Amino acid sequence: MDKYAVIGWPVEHSVSPQMQSAGIKELGLNAVYEKIPVQPHELGEAVSRLRQEYAGWNITVPHKETILPHLDKVEEAAARIGSVNTVVNEAGSLKGYSTDGYGLSAALSESFGIHPLGTRFVFIGAGGAARATAAYFAANGAGKISIINRTRAKADAIAELIRELEPGCRTQVAQPDEKPLLQSLMQETDVIIQATSLGLKNDDPLPLDLGLAAAGTPVYDMIYRATPFLTEAQKHGCPTANGASMLLYQGARSLELWTGREAPVEAMRQALYASLGAARAKAS
Ligand code: ATR
Repeated sequence: MDKYAVIGWPVEHSVSPQMQSAGIKELGLNAVYEKIPVQPHELGEAVSRLRQEYAGWNITVPHKETILPHLDKVEEAAARIGSVNTVVNEAGSLKGYSTDGYGLSAALSESFGIHPLGTRFVFIGAGGAARATAAYFAANGAGKISIINRTRAKADAIAELIRELEPGCRTQVAQPDEKPLLQSLMQETDVIIQATSLGLKNDDPLPLDLGLAAAGTPVYDMIYRATPFLTEAQKHGCPTANGASMLLYQGARSLELWTGREAPVEAMRQALYASLGAARAKAS
C-alpha cells in the first residue's frame, strides 16, 4: 500500500486528507493519506522517516521554505520561489514541487475564464502565498503584476524577483495608504487577488477599500470561505470566488504528480467542500 500525507504545524485543521482520500478512492488506488504534525525542530528527522515510508506528501506552514535543503531535487519553478508544497518520493530520491500557482490559475480559469497570458493582476498581500502565485503568473506570461502590501519591503522583494525572472512582466508596488496610486492600479487591472490573512477572523478589518475598483472586476480571496471582503466586492458588482477552488486544484495537481493519473477533480471537490462546510459548522 502507498502512503501519502500532509505535514505541518499545526496540521489538525487540514482538510487535505478528506480531499485526497476521495481522489484515491475514485482512482481505485491502494493507498492512504494521513495528517502528520511536525514541529519545526523535528523537520529533518521527519523527512528521514517519510523518505523510508511515504510515496509522497504535501507540506503546509511552516515548512514550505525550510524543507528545501532536505530534498534531493526541486523543480525549477519551485526553486525560483524557494517554496515547495508537494514532494514526490522517487525510490528514495525526493523531488519538490510547488502546485500553488497552478492551483490559483486553474481556479481563476474556472470562476472567471481568466488565464495568465497578457493579464494584469493586483495582489493584496505579499506573504508566501502571494509570492508563489505571482511568480507562477509571471512565468506564464502575465502582462503586469501589482502588489499592494502594508509592509513595502515585502512587496518590493516580490516585484524584484519577478523582474529578475521575467523582465517582460511589468510590476508595480503600492501601500494601502497611497490612494491616487491605488486607484489607478485598481482601475487598470483584470483581476484582484486577496492574499493577506485578513478575513480569517470575523472581526478583521477589510484589507482594502473596494470602492477604488472598477465595478465588474473579478475578485478572488485565497481564504477558503465567504469573507467580508468578498461580500463587499459583490455589493460593488464584482464577480467573486473564494480559496476553496485553489485548495482543490493545488491538491489535484499533487495527486497527479504522485500517481501520473488525471485527478478526479469532481470527487475531490465534493469531499473538500463538504469537509469545509462541516469545519465551518463546528467553528460557529
Ligand atoms: P501566507 O504565507 O499565507 O501568504 P504570510 O506570509 O504570513 O502568509 O503573509 C501574510 C500577509 O497578510 C502579509 O502580506 C501581511 O502583511 P505584512 O507583509 O505587512 O505583514 C498581511 N497582513 C497580515 N495581517 C495584516 C494586517 N493587520 N493588516 C494588513 N496586512 C496584514
